[in-house]
Amino acid sequence: MPKKKGAIGIFDSGVGGLTVVKALEEQLPNEKFCYLADSLNLPYGNKSASDLEEICIENINFLIQNPLKALIIACNTASAHAYESLKKRFNIPIFDVITPSVDEALKRTQTKKIAVLATESTIASNLYEKLILTRMPDAEVTSIACPLLVSVVEENMLTHQLSQMLIRQYLAPLEEADVDVVILGCTHYPLLEKTIKEELPEHVEIIDSSKCSVLNLKEYLEKNALLEKSKPGSDNLFFVSGSTDLFNKIGSSLLNQKVNSVKR
Ligand code: DGL
Repeated sequence: MPKKKGAIGIFDSGVGGLTVVKALEEQLPNEKFCYLADSLNLPYGNKSASDLEEICIENINFLIQNPLKALIIACNTASAHAYESLKKRFNIPIFDVITPSVDEALKRTQTKKIAVLATESTIASNLYEKLILTRMPDAEVTSIACPLLVSVVEENMLTHQLSQMLIRQYLAPLEEADVDVVILGCTHYPLLEKTIKEELPEHVEIIDSSKCSVLNLKEYLEKNALLEKSKPGSDNLFFVSGSTDLFNKIGSSLLNQKVNSVKR
């Protein structure tokens, strides 16, 4: 039986998961959440599956010290390598960011040509491609690893010329691929969405894995009558395993609330 009361637990390697928090603020404003930015282990994008699984277990063990009714792995890389095993290991409903994004991309594509932008480790897992091709065998998937984009986001260089140069370079293979849907398969990338959009033809639709995961969670909470009816009585919680300064700055400018994180 799912717990009726409790916060939504969320974790990522840094500020990326805040894009999930932002979508939660918009879609589920009455839910309280408890966020862990595991920046001590940043980046996740070049870690092995076994290291990632260990890190995720530690993060979830930390978060479940608070009463939680559900948890989102707000990271594509961790979702790609550890979601299935974490679901079995913990007695709490756990949600990933990949399957809802694939569902959305398959609904939106007309040409069946889909691009996935993600970390090296997510691309190496091949999970996006596998899930797309299982459901749409004649789809064409262009997978692009964008290893430096997480760093520019973490450095708060969202509008810096360097970010634009990197994005242009990473998106170059799409000139030939002629896709109509691009999945932002890393929760850091929605913070660069404006620049990414500028580099793509106008008709191309962008799928944001953070938003998709929150809509999926909303559906689950509705189905199980678990939605909070009124605003939480206490503040949301933010924990950071590394340095808190830049995290608070980016968090406060992105969200509709002041972020005062606590060092884990
Ligand atoms: N934001 C994460 C993702 O969605 C992890 C990025 C990283 O730490 O490399 O993949």
